[in-house]
Amino acid sequence: MKAKKIGIIGNGNVGGALAHGLKRAGHEVRAVGNDPAAIREVATWASEVILAVPFGAIDATLAAIGPALEGKTVIDATNALGAEMQLVLGFNTSGAEELQKKVPQAHVVKAFNTVFAQHMDTGHLRNQELTAFVAGDDAHAKEDALGLARDIGFDAVDAGPLRNARLLEPFAYLNIQLGYVLNMGPQIGFKLLHA
Ligand SMILES: NC(=O)c1ccc[n+]([C@@H]2O[C@H](COP(=O)([O-])OP(=O)(O)OC[C@H]3O[C@@H](n4cnc5c(N)ncnc54)[C@H](OP(=O)(O)O)[C@@H]3O)[C@@H](O)[C@H]2O)c1
Repeated sequence: MKAKKIGIIGNGNVGGALAHGLKRAGHEVRAVGNDPAAIREVATWASEVILAVPFGAIDATLAAIGPALEGKTVIDATNALGAEMQLVLGFNTSGAEELQKKVPQAHVVKAFNTVFAQHMDTGHLRNQELTAFVAGDDAHAKEDALGLARDIGFDAVDAGPLRNARLLEPFAYLNIQLGYVLNMGPQIGFKLLHA
C-alpha cells in the first residue's frame, strides 16, 4: 500500500475515527477542527481531503479552504441534516452533488456517510465487515476512496455515479432512524451480501 497524505476537515466523531483507522493503515493523516487557518493549511498539504463537518458548516469550511481542492479527491462523509436531524435535500439532488457544484475543480466522492462513527476506525462491527458504499463520477477519485475504505477494513463497494448519493444520503438517514429513533443504538450497520 502506498501511504497517502490525508487531510480530514472535522475532528469530531467521524473525523477522529477515520483519522484513527487511516493512521493504523499506514497513511499520513492530519485532522483539524473549526480553525480556518488550520483547515486551509491541512487542505493544501493533503493529496486527498475528507469532509467530516456538520452539513451546515460546509460553506464556511469551503471558504476557509480556498482554492486548495483543485484536482484533488474530496470525500464527502457528511449527511445533509437540518437542526432537527431531518434530511434537508430530497429526490432531485444530494449534499454531495451540491458540494461538487461548489468545488467544480475537485473530484467529489460520497463515502462513509452510511456508517456510524463508532465503526469508522475499523470498518467492522464485532468481527463482521461493514460495507462502505462509494459513489462518484471520477474513476480515479472513486478508486482512491474505495482503496482508503479497504485500508481501514471495510468491504468497499462501488455504488455508481455521484448522483447515487441521492440514495446513500437517505440510506444513512435510515441508519440514524434505526439507531436513535427506533432505539437499536449505534451497534448496528449495513452489510451487502455478495453471492
Ligand atoms: N456521527 C456519526 O455517526 C456520523 C456518521 C456518518 C456521517 N456523519 C456526518 O459526518 C459529519 C460530522 O459528524 P460528527 O458526528 O463527526 O460531528 P462532530 O463530532 O460534531 O464534529 C464536527 C467537526 O467539524 C468541525 N468543524 C469545522 N468547521 C466547523 C464549523 N464551521 N462549524 C461547526 N463545526 C465545524 C468541528 O470542529 P471543532 O471540533 O473545533 O468544534 C468538529 O471537529 C456530519 O455531517 C454528520 O452528519 C456522522
